[in-house]
Amino acid sequence: MSQKIRIGIVFGGRSGEHEVSLASARSVIEAIDRAKYEVVPIGITRDGRWIADGDPMGLLTSGDGAIVPPVALLGDRSGCGLVQLTDCDGQLVGERLSDLDVVFPVLHGTYGEDGTVQGLLELANIPYVGADVLSSAVAMDKAVFRDVMKAHGLPSVEYLVFKRMEWDAHPESLMEKTEVELGYPVFVKPANMGSSVGVSRCENRSQLLEGLAQAARYDRKLVIEKSVPAAREIEVSVLGNDQPMASVPGEIVPSRDFYSYEAKYIDTGEHGSRLLIPAPLPADLTERIRRLAIEAYLAVDCCGMARVDFLLSGMSETLYINEMNTIPGFTEISMYSKLWAASGIDYPHLIDQLVGLAFERHSDRQRSETSYAVRSD
Ligand SMILES: Nc1ncnc2c1ncn2[C@@H]1O[C@H](COP(=O)(O)OP(=O)(O)O)[C@@H](O)[C@H]1O
Ligand SMILES: [Mg+2]
Repeated sequence: MSQKIRIGIVFGGRSGEHEVSLASARSVIEAIDRAKYEVVPIGITRDGRWIADGDPMGLLTSGDGAIVPPVALLGDRSGCGLVQLTDCDGQLVGERLSDLDVVFPVLHGTYGEDGTVQGLLELANIPYVGADVLSSAVAMDKAVFRDVMKAHGLPSVEYLVFKRMEWDAHPESLMEKTEVELGYPVFVKPANMGSSVGVSRCENRSQLLEGLAQAARYDRKLVIEKSVPAAREIEVSVLGNDQPMASVPGEIVPSRDFYSYEAKYIDTGEHGSRLLIPAPLPADLTERIRRLAIEAYLAVDCCGMARVDFLLSGMSETLYINEMNTIPGFTEISMYSKLWAASGIDYPHLIDQLVGLAFERHSDRQRSETSYAVRSD
């Protein structure tokens, strides 16, 4: 076989989902086809240092990442790839480490799933797995995402968006507006977060006050939405660039009254949340959900992959698109990969397809001219 594809797998990062990222990346590193790929593991510490020396996964797990010299991915397109920085008498000296053919950012949440790392990879002109800058940022921001769904006529719950500073200045009038326009119960969320951090369900004014204070800890933008009654949590995996495919839907049965941080990560074993694959739904509803997942993906102009999450009102069978995760939990036993396994694509092939999509999107982008040559006629 010709030369192996050198793939940088980036994990960790400055996000509340640091550990989740380590678990996802460990899974990718174990399962990736070594006959085809040469793996370059790249860890990002909690405080944002990039490391590639020795065993970055071990160093991040043990918390010793801060002691090894950092690497940098340069935002220029001269093909330098990764640069090793070494401390020489108090000065950082750079040495070319390895070129990368492609990067898989296995990072969840802030500074990873939100378009920031994707922007760096664009500047460096390195193909990368998953959503691009715009689709990452739109999917990350629950307020903008809702606006896009609404503009495309896709079903989402009624919502209001407040800036933290408006909330600081006029709490009374914002609470009144919420009560008049939405009514209790409501869900309050920071616009840019994940793992249900800062999300609360509020049934009255004092809970709303507390919920907004919690959400305001994490973002300058707050989203308040109508609560979907007896909500069932349905998720669909989408894969592809301009012609995406949708998996069978799955269902999560949370261990608590909603799918909170505790229900996601703390409750385990028989007390944990359960995954039902495929989701027990009538065939017509299943098809509608798969179609809507693709429409939402196209509306955001996503590429690579995303997990589209729905809330299905248990009362009326009304369906709402709740959110889109462009780097969903990606271990072999995460919902995203299990839904593909149930739809005929096993985990190593899923990784391989994602890399193929990264190259496809990169070469498509190369076709576009970036400057205009003034015509002389
Ligand atoms: N409008 C809503 N109605 C009912 N339940 C909701 C609503 N919004 C959120 N939830 C519950 O809160 C959980 C977390 O909210 P979500 O918007 O998915 O945030 P995150 O991005 O942190 O996962 C959902 O999985 C669901 O259980
Ligand atoms: Mg969610």
